[in-house]
Amino acid sequence: MISEEHLKVGLDKIPFPFDQKGEGLLQSGCIESLKIEDSKIICILLVPVLKEEDQKKIETFIEDVKRYLKIQVPTHEIFVITTNERSSALSPTLPLKPWGIRNIRHIIAVASGKGGVGKSTVALNLAVGLKNLGLKVGILDADVYGPSLPHLFNVHEKPMMFEGKKFKPILKEGLALMSMGFLMDTEAPLIWRGPMVQGVITQLLTDVDWGDLDVLVVDLPPGTGDVQLTLAQKVSLSGAVIVSTPQDIALIDARKAIGMFEKLEVPLLGVVENMSLFICPNCHYETSIFSHGGARKEAEKRGLPFLGEIELSLKLREASDLGLPLDQKEGIATSFLKIAQKVKDQLDAFTV
Ligand SMILES: Nc1ncnc2c1ncn2[C@@H]1O[C@H](COP(=O)(O)OP(=O)(O)O)[C@@H](O)[C@H]1O
Ligand SMILES: [Mg+2]
Repeated sequence: MISEEHLKVGLDKIPFPFDQKGEGLLQSGCIESLKIEDSKIICILLVPVLKEEDQKKIETFIEDVKRYLKIQVPTHEIFVITTNERSSALSPTLPLKPWGIRNIRHIIAVASGKGGVGKSTVALNLAVGLKNLGLKVGILDADVYGPSLPHLFNVHEKPMMFEGKKFKPILKEGLALMSMGFLMDTEAPLIWRGPMVQGVITQLLTDVDWGDLDVLVVDLPPGTGDVQLTLAQKVSLSGAVIVSTPQDIALIDARKAIGMFEKLEVPLLGVVENMSLFICPNCHYETSIFSHGGARKEAEKRGLPFLGEIELSLKLREASDLGLPLDQKEGIATSFLKIAQKVKDQLDAFTV
């Protein structure tokens, strides 16, 4: 098996386009790190703050790096990440809470204990609901392990980074969107180490020119890991929305997520029960495929607001898979709007 050192030396044959002396990648010091992990190669390159006209240059350069690594290790998936700061500078040096982000009134997190319960689906449709209530809304897909925003919005363009170090979010359906998935070329989940996650989340929050937003909805990865901690410690969250299916197994994990936010002193805006009922589109017979009412009971037991139920819906699943917005005339869109209203009411009370 080829070694990391061997790859670095090989990469030196590629000239670093931003080096005045025309030196290769290794000599110019632009390789921040290169790691071979399981079936992946993760290469982090230090690049200068780019001017708009440099965008093409960097894209070609990244392609060259990827091509070289792929030829050397065809069995592995290649991830090339660029950064403007050395990792020491990425470590948490920012002041702890309260630390809002200029121009964003509220940051809310959408969380779940388990994956696959519809957290991203709820985050997106909650954001659409808030927008339909007249708010300016952004979505940050903080699921750095399995970003889904590019797929849910069918976005394949890359956000541009301009002078002043800021990415422009992608604008779609009247929402400002940012996801690590826009910056990576692959749909494969990425394995980050803790400190890398902290750096990435901080960058996604602060190095994006979000503009003026009333609410930034953050779609968290499932569980209670580094992303949740970084977010809760670094920014002043207005609150968290917990998504669960009614099943016992999902509720056990949802409880853990609730416990974590309580410990981190993040207000809980309430619980959404997703996939709570299936209404047959043909005969209208109601079936509780994943049981029913469990999340509502859990919310009541904990003294948390119950925000609403979202049925298991073919229309919703189809819209998500196609990356299309949900038809706002559908009944399920109204359910999301009601949830959005309950969230908005709490945020309004918070502001006063
Ligand atoms: N209420 C629902 N009805 C039908 N399909 C749903 C519903 N909620 C989520 N899904 C589908 O379930 C899958 C997982 O949802 P997703 O939002 O990606 O979950 P998570 O973010 O929790 O991993 C997706 O294919 C999504 O379209
Ligand atoms: Mg998700």
